[in-house]
Amino acid sequence: MVEYATIMAELTHKNIILGITGGIAAYKAAVLARLLKAENANVRVCMTDSAITFINPLTFQALSGNPVHNTLLDPHAEAAMGHIELARWADSVLIAPATANTLAKLATGQADNLLTTLCLATCAPIILAPAMNQAMWNNSFTQKNIKRLQQYGMQLIGPDSGNQACGDHGLGRMSEPETIINGLKKYLQQQTPAPQQHPLANINIMITAGPTREAIDPVRYITNRSSGKMGYAIARSAQKLGASVTLISGTVALDCPQGVTRYWAESANDMYQQVKAHIAPIQIFIATAAVADYAPQTPATRKIKKTAETDTLTLTLQKNVDILASISHENPHVFTVGFAAETENVEHYAREKLNNKKLNMIAANQVGHKQGFDVDENTLLVIWENGKKSLPITTKTQLAEQLMQLINQHYQKDQIVRTRSNHETN
Ligand SMILES: Cc1cc2nc3c(=O)[nH]c(=O)nc-3n(C[C@H](O)[C@H](O)[C@H](O)COP(=O)(O)O)c2cc1C
Repeated sequence: MVEYATIMAELTHKNIILGITGGIAAYKAAVLARLLKAENANVRVCMTDSAITFINPLTFQALSGNPVHNTLLDPHAEAAMGHIELARWADSVLIAPATANTLAKLATGQADNLLTTLCLATCAPIILAPAMNQAMWNNSFTQKNIKRLQQYGMQLIGPDSGNQACGDHGLGRMSEPETIINGLKKYLQQQTPAPQQHPLANINIMITAGPTREAIDPVRYITNRSSGKMGYAIARSAQKLGASVTLISGTVALDCPQGVTRYWAESANDMYQQVKAHIAPIQIFIATAAVADYAPQTPATRKIKKTAETDTLTLTLQKNVDILASISHENPHVFTVGFAAETENVEHYAREKLNNKKLNMIAANQVGHKQGFDVDENTLLVIWENGKKSLPITTKTQLAEQLMQLINQHYQKDQIVRTRSNHETN
C-alpha cells in the first residue's frame, strides 16, 4: 500500500474487466477484485474454464457485485452483454493472473474463449500480470510472446521474483495485488492527457454553414431558412479549443468569428468547389450548411417576365452534388460530421444518413415552425456507430461547445484505433 498516496490516478467509475486465467495465483485475484471495488471501479470478471477449476466464480460474483462471465457461446449473455458488448464497455482489461497459455494465445491473436475474444475486440488498454513457474517464464516461447505483446501495446505488471508454489525460486510470481493496482493506476494516469486548454491545437477543421442560394434567374433564387448560427457557433467553439478553422459560408448576416478563415459560397456548387479547394489539410469536416438538394436545371440568363398568357411557371430542378457524401467517400482519413434536420423520425433518418454517407458522427435535430432554423436555441441528438447522446435544449453557443467536446473525444478515439490498426497491418 506504500505508493497509494503518491499515485493519484482515479479508478472511480472506470469500467475494468478483470480477466482471470488458470494459474495457482488465481486466488490472489479475489484480493484484486476487492481492491478495485474499494477504488470505486466498476468491475466485471471474466474467467477462463481453467480459472474456474482453481477458484469458484461465486467468490467474484460476490466481490464484484456482477455475474461472472465465462462462456463465449452463451445466448443469454450475447443478448445482454456478449463479448463485443464487454469489449466496448471496458475502459481497461486487466488479466491477473495471466497464464503462459493465455499470453501465447493473445500474442497470436487467438479468440477461442470469451477472454481472448474480448481482448481481440476491445480498443481499451490491456494490462497483463503474468504468473507462472520460473522455467515457463524463462522459456523462449514465453519470452517471444511477451516481446510481441509489448510491441502490440499491451502493458506488463511483473512478474516478481521469489519462492514459487511449486517449490522453485525465480522470476514468475504474480506481483502482489496492491502493486498491480498501483501499476494499473500509473498506466491509466499516463494514458489520461492532462486537461488541455487547447485540445484541438494543430487540428485543421472545416465547417460549412448557412443556406445555399440556387439561381432561378439573375434576380431570384431558391433558398431555405438556415441562419448559419449553429455553424458559426461551432466554428467559434472549435477555434476556442485551439483548432485552425476554415469556414465555408453561405450568404448570412453574421460576423466571421475571430481567428477563423471564411470563404463565401452562394450556390451548392460554389460551396462544393470551395470545400474541394481547401480540403487537403483538413482532419475534421463538419457539414452544418443547409445545402439545397436541388437547383434549377438551367437558370435564365435574363429576368423571367410575367406573361399575360399563362398563370403558371414550371421550373425543372436538377439534383445537386452531395457535398458531405462526396467528401467522406473521397477522403476516408477525414473525420466527418454531418447534420440532419428532419421534420419526423429524426433518429431513424439520421442513422440512415450516417451509414449511407459513411460518416463518423451525425447531429440530428427536429426542424419545423420556430424549431431548429433561424432561432437561438436548439436541441441535438448526436449519433455515432455504437452510441448516441442527446443534448437538451440550450443556446446554440452552448450546444456548439458540447458538440465540439463530443467531436473531439470521438476524433481522438478514432485516431487511436487508426494508429493501432496501422500498427497491426505493418
Ligand atoms: C496446479 C496447477 C497450477 C498451474 N499454475 C499455472 C501457473 O501459475 N501459470 C501458468 O501459466 N499455468 C499454470 N498451470 C497450467 C494452466 O492451468 C494451463 O496452461 C491452462 O491451460 C491455462 O488455461 P487458461 O490460460 O485458459 O486459463 C497450472 C496447472 C495446474 C494443474
